[in-house]
Amino acid sequence: MAVPDGRLTNTDLERMLDTTDTWIVERTGIRERRVASPSDTAVTLGAAAGAAAIKDAGLTPGDIGLVLVATCTAPQVLPSAASLVQELLGLRCGALDVGAACAGFVYGLVAAAGMAGDQPVLLIGAETLTRITDPDDRGTRILFGDGAGAAVLGRPLDPTAGLLAWDLGCDGSAAPLLEVPVGDRYMRMEGGEVFRRAVRIVVESAAMALERAGLTPADVDVFVPHQANVRIIEAACSRLRIPMERAVVNLDRYGNTSAASVPIAMTEASEQGRLHKGDIVLLSGFGAGMTWASAVLRWDGEPA
Ligand code: UT7
Repeated sequence: MAVPDGRLTNTDLERMLDTTDTWIVERTGIRERRVASPSDTAVTLGAAAGAAAIKDAGLTPGDIGLVLVATCTAPQVLPSAASLVQELLGLRCGALDVGAACAGFVYGLVAAAGMAGDQPVLLIGAETLTRITDPDDRGTRILFGDGAGAAVLGRPLDPTAGLLAWDLGCDGSAAPLLEVPVGDRYMRMEGGEVFRRAVRIVVESAAMALERAGLTPADVDVFVPHQANVRIIEAACSRLRIPMERAVVNLDRYGNTSAASVPIAMTEASEQGRLHKGDIVLLSGFGAGMTWASAVLRWDGEPA
């Protein structure tokens, strides 16, 4: 993972907006977010996370066969963020962006599984959401932060491990609920409606992916949900009957980093020793579109 050093706390926001630390913590669970410096972009943060993932996998850039970058905040319209990341990292492979908003990393995981050849795939989620958030809109400014996370994906040595099943979906009729129309600088969001739909689709999609894997929510050892609002995670866990202790929650420190939230949470879960060989890991994302994606993994833990 790679997050900027700059922090924006709830106390900072109290000075800028008609809001309070108490309201933000009670309604979202967020305490602070990271803000990219002017010289950083989704590409520089994504490349930093990608370089760390390649090193962690014991590989070099020449070993990577494909790079996918999930982002909705690419610094340029053309070329893709993946092209720019490829150049920064010195990769020589195919490069493609995944546009599925906050569900982008989980969508990318499924795409990677289908597109992979013999060489590993580098999958990155990278965002600078604070750049498209209206500084005067208390409904969105309190939520979003910047950062990147990445994973190197290879075929597991253990054939029973890896990606077991998934569920991908989209309801394009809900597009106006969260959008940045062409020509607009900042996002518009109907937060309450996004919230209500998010709880429902996370639950339905997770249940579908688990069923396809021949599993039930009781089998989930580690749940890594998109970090949008702790109340969404609590409601989804309660309806799925997954104990909250099994959910990875770090939005208190990063806010909603869109496509970067799942890989940042995965990185921290891994560093904290929460992922063990054989564990069933449920990943879940949802966002603008509205898109959603769930993936069920059996954790291998050994680099292939
Ligand atoms: O990645 C996916 C993208 N987005 C999401 O997942 C967002 C999902 N939605 C949410 O997380 C929540 O809907 C919000 C955090 C955005 C809002 O929380 P809420 O509990 O749905 O609040 P609300 O919009 O129903 O507003 C309740 C009250 C309103 O005041 P009145 O009309 O009751 O007088 C708002 O004006 O809270 C007010 N309010 C605030 N007050 C203090 C809204 N934002 C704030 C704020 N500080 N920042």
